Amino acid sequence: MKTALILLLACLASSCLSAQRTCGVQTLPRFVPQHTASVSAREVAVLPVVVHIVWHQPEENISDTQVESQIEVLNQDFRALNVEVPDIHPLFDELAADVEIEFCLTAITRTQTPWEGVSNLFAQGKRRVCHTELGGRDAIDPAHYINIWVAGRSDGTLGSATFPEQAQDKPEEDGLFLRPDVFGTQGSTTPPFNLGRTCTHEMGHYLNLGHLWGSGADNFDCEQDDGLEDTPRQASTYRNTCPAVPPFSCGSADMFMNYMNYTDDACMALFTPGQKARVWGALMQFRSGLLQSSCAPVASAPSLNRTPPRLLGNPAKNVAHLQLSEKEKYEIAIFDAAGRLVLLTRHHGGGLLEIDLSGWAAGIYHIKIKHGAQLHLKKLIIAQ
Ligand code: ARG
Ligand code: ZN
Ligand code: CA
Repeated sequence: MKTALILLLACLASSCLSAQRTCGVQTLPRFVPQHTASVSAREVAVLPVVVHIVWHQPEENISDTQVESQIEVLNQDFRALNVEVPDIHPLFDELAADVEIEFCLTAITRTQTPWEGVSNLFAQGKRRVCHTELGGRDAIDPAHYINIWVAGRSDGTLGSATFPEQAQDKPEEDGLFLRPDVFGTQGSTTPPFNLGRTCTHEMGHYLNLGHLWGSGADNFDCEQDDGLEDTPRQASTYRNTCPAVPPFSCGSADMFMNYMNYTDDACMALFTPGQKARVWGALMQFRSGLLQSSCAPVASAPSLNRTPPRLLGNPAKNVAHLQLSEKEKYEIAIFDAAGRLVLLTRHHGGGLLEIDLSGWAAGIYHIKIKHGAQLHLKKLIIAQ
């Protein structure tokens, strides 16, 4: 166990490319926007998520699309691909870190509950929403999947989450708790909580991040801190606000736009390098099971059992075929062994996509297929 941890850390410090298997961190090329011509290979962890919708009122039974919109937000925010990045105040714009974590949706479960506001109800010390026999839904393998319960609550809170250390003694209640009306960017969400940032914030807690103002209700004496150097100390929580310029408190300008503040969704914009390091530390020390896990749909959740893409005719010569069975949008990016983007295309599925390989050098290529919130990886070999 210790050796594994040291290996993991050593691996992180080095490039990880050659030691991929030992390391358990998946090596993925960065998924680039269409206009970018080339990219370099890098390591990114892809963490599997299961979403449990536990609904009382019918409108709490949110759509798959709304769930997928939340996964997209997480993927943008943890890769610094969110639209706010270019507008971050110059005092902090160098500090927007690519956390190099992505999320894949592996299951959606749906459960009707007799309990209104089930998310913050307890019975015999147990959180109802986490237990099927108490009117909620049992977690799925919390050591290997991030469980997110989307359910109503009546304590005025939008969301909450368990810290990594808390998870040790109650794994069956480990995860995130989000209200349906703040989950994702569509359907039942409304401003100022309609950009999915409550979940980004709670995922920060789940991965061991604290609030910038510390752990109290406020920090007007400036005594408290989140333990990180690159997040300035601040007095207030910035709840329900969106300042135009960073206000001053505790002797410096405040990073109000950090995800670990209470600023409105539209005003949140970044995690810092210090937060990234803390998150990766927690991943290695407490949540390493997530790194050994897969993005394949969880078998017990039939709603997500869509036919995965298949690569036909591999190793290939002049042509390869991708079988994209669902009549939905797919985004296909192909990278060569050096991580350079060689093809980026969109395709409406429902059959086979032919890829013309004439003129391509022999060797190994990586195909990244985006299908809704799902991410599929294939290795294409072009023979001599
Ligand atoms: N736990 C906090 C709450 O429920 C999360 C606040 C998130 N803020 C936001 N603008 N989305 O109040
Ligand atoms: Zn919080
Ligand atoms: Ca700090």
